Amino acid sequence: MEKVKEFTLLDFEDVRLFVNGEWVTAASNSYFTLTNPSTGEVVTKIPRGGKVEAKDAIEAASQAFQSWSKLSAYERAEYLLKLRDLMFEHEEELAAIMSTEMGKAFTEARGEVKYAASFLTWYAEEARRIYGETIPASVPNKRLTVIKQPVGVIAAITPWNFPLAMMTRKLGPALAAGCTGVVKPASQSPLSALAFAKLVEKAGIPNGVVNIVAGATREISDEIFENPIVKKISFTGSTEVGKTLVEKSAPQLKKLALELGGHAPFIVFEDADLEKAAEGALASKFRNAGQTCVCANRIYVHENVREEFTNILVDKVKSLKVGNSIDETTQIGPLVNKEGVKKVEEHVSDAVAKGAVVLHGGKALGEEGCFYEPTVLGNVTKDMLIMNEETFGPVAPITTFHSEEEVIKEANDTIYGLAAYLYTSNISRAVRVSESLNFGVIGLNDGLPGTAQAPFGGMNQSGYGREGGHQGIRDYLEEKFISLSL
Ligand code: SIN
Repeated sequence: MEKVKEFTLLDFEDVRLFVNGEWVTAASNSYFTLTNPSTGEVVTKIPRGGKVEAKDAIEAASQAFQSWSKLSAYERAEYLLKLRDLMFEHEEELAAIMSTEMGKAFTEARGEVKYAASFLTWYAEEARRIYGETIPASVPNKRLTVIKQPVGVIAAITPWNFPLAMMTRKLGPALAAGCTGVVKPASQSPLSALAFAKLVEKAGIPNGVVNIVAGATREISDEIFENPIVKKISFTGSTEVGKTLVEKSAPQLKKLALELGGHAPFIVFEDADLEKAAEGALASKFRNAGQTCVCANRIYVHENVREEFTNILVDKVKSLKVGNSIDETTQIGPLVNKEGVKKVEEHVSDAVAKGAVVLHGGKALGEEGCFYEPTVLGNVTKDMLIMNEETFGPVAPITTFHSEEEVIKEANDTIYGLAAYLYTSNISRAVRVSESLNFGVIGLNDGLPGTAQAPFGGMNQSGYGREGGHQGIRDYLEEKFISLSL
């Protein structure tokens, strides 16, 4: 980790979990190792937390809930803003940690720190706007009101592709609402969460309000789902795992928010600004080396502009710099691990076997690390794996269409429904197509629609619930109706 001269947040010789304001090792005395996907070198070892730590964390959160939920929204907002300021103060270090553990290009990692902090700012403000309701009664001697109260202890199960932003997108509204909780970070990116916990400590947030337990995924999540103290769980990850969590949540009817997989169509109409569309495709497809749930996964270009659009995109992709993620000039870092590279290889070889043409890239790079060349495929057809599954890698498959009706039908022909993109300069078409696409987020002439103040979430098998925006705090609140008879 050459990037940052001095690390002040974590001691890499002795990484610990954060439970009830204490830095603890695992009761099992076991560890797991973290490998840098740029170099294949071991970064450090992390205590493998399990049932014991998860239970302790839940109980600590329950204890802390008694006082945290009683603070005024203004006091909780102050804590969130202090935490936000600390994130800015430690931006370089947080970015370097993230980049080293999961391979995000350093400049992008820096952007993610800002993105993550923006959820704290937004929810500090939303905390002050948790309004209730007064309802006119049907008789003169009654007064009807609805108040909102925090649901209690929550758990956030967070992914490795946005280790900080997906955590604050869950914790920001939870803490603002008055909830306390436990974070289970992905095993590929626990250090970002633990470094964040150091900031929680520095911000003076009371013990037990935020707990971070990394380690044995199954054991920790079993405790989260079985322990009756936990009232709500927010999960970001695969659709496959999301389905098992729905079953696990059933016995206690726990509230569940699921932000799952995607398979985003990216549609370029013949009336689009092609330069802007190619820029948007580049941003959407190659952000985080193609490892986002909202990445363009299938690019539909009108037959009449296929050649022109493809040439512009290929030129842009050729100029992307691949390299060690910690290098500030790198634009495409490694994939998170070898399995990630294998999946991309499978998608590309399946496409080529079925007639796709490699217009640029098309292979894994080097022995060390987990690199895959930024790739563009032409002549892609519907029967290819890449047109049916999430790739999670830097491959842009291009196919063509002839009519608006046809492309809407193709775009909607998926089990997923997270994000979709369209590029057009025709205002009527823009409205018509946006309204016809069955996806939770639409990028209309916009390759990067995600932002703290807007709701983010999926339809269909991309999950349910919304994060971000004023909507994102709803699930952390119960509505209580009070009927007063005078
Ligand atoms: C994701 O891909 O899971 C999140 C992307 C975003 O927030 O923009």
